[in-house]
This record gives sequence, structure tokens and C-alpha cells, in this order.
Amino acid sequence: MKISKLVILIGMIAVALFLVLPNLSWAADDGAATYKTKCAMCHGADLAGKPAAKIPSLVSGDAKTASDADLTDMIANGGKDKKTTHAFANKGVSPDQVQALVSYIRSAQK
Ligand code: HEC
Repeated sequence: MKISKLVILIGMIAVALFLVLPNLSWAADDGAATYKTKCAMCHGADLAGKPAAKIPSLVSGDAKTASDADLTDMIANGGKDKKTTHAFANKGVSPDQVQALVSYIRSAQK
């Protein structure tokens, strides 16, 4: 009897941790920090791109009119053309980080 109650208690604590921990760690996924390490070398610290190198701005033009779904696909999978430079889903960028990047780009576009 005593042991089964303990098992239930441990089970409930485990469930509670599963619910709370992801929110704590993934909420800390900072789009700005990911941008700095993964994107800024090409798109620039100010997101303005490098026209001379044909790297588009993320704060104007296509990136501004693209839907969130298009931006997400572009970053995670390289978009329609599956550009390997952008298949960040294969390069250690989690779906949550891609989401954070989209929010970061959106806030920079305002
Ligand atoms: C190696 C340089 C490089 C890196 C690193 C890079 N990009 Fe790009 N990005 C480009 C180029 C070049 C294009 C133009 C499309 C193409 O030819 O691939 C582009 C296009 C885009 C587009 C589409 C813009 C448009 O006008 O259609 C988005 C959105 C984008 N990049 C976001 C990102 C994000 C977010 C990161 C970081 C996770 C990133 N890029 C990292 C070079 C880079």
C-alpha cells in the first residue's frame, strides 16, 4: 500500500516536471541569439542583407511580404527550392528556434 502511493506520487512529480521543464527551457530560446550565431554572418547584424553578395534583406522585400509559413519553410527546409544553405532543420536549429527566428524577423520588420 505504502509503496504504491509512493509510486503514484513519483509519477505525478514526473508528469509535473515534463509539463513545466520544456516551457522553461524553450521559452529561453532567443531568436536574436540564434540569429546572431546562425544568420548574421550572411544577412547582417541589422538584417539588411548584403546586396553586393546577393543576400536579401530580411526587413524589406520578399521576406516582408512572405507569410510566416513561408519564412518558417525557408529557414527550416530551404523553401520551395530546398536551398541547402537554409536547411537549418538539419543543422541543429530546433523547430522552436525556427519559430523564435520568425518572430525575431517579424519584430525587426516593424
Ligand atoms: C551562407 C549565407 C547565409 C546564411 C548563413 C543564412 N542565409 Fe538566408 N539567405 C541567403 C541567401 C544567399 C538568400 C537568397 C536565396 C538563396 O539564393 O538562397 C537567403 C534568403 C533568405 C530568406 C528569404 C528572403 C527572401 O527575400 O525571399 C530568408 C527568410 C532567410 N534567408 C533567412 C535566414 C535565416 C533566419 C538565417 C539563419 C537561421 C539565414 N537566412 C542564414 C544567405 C544566407
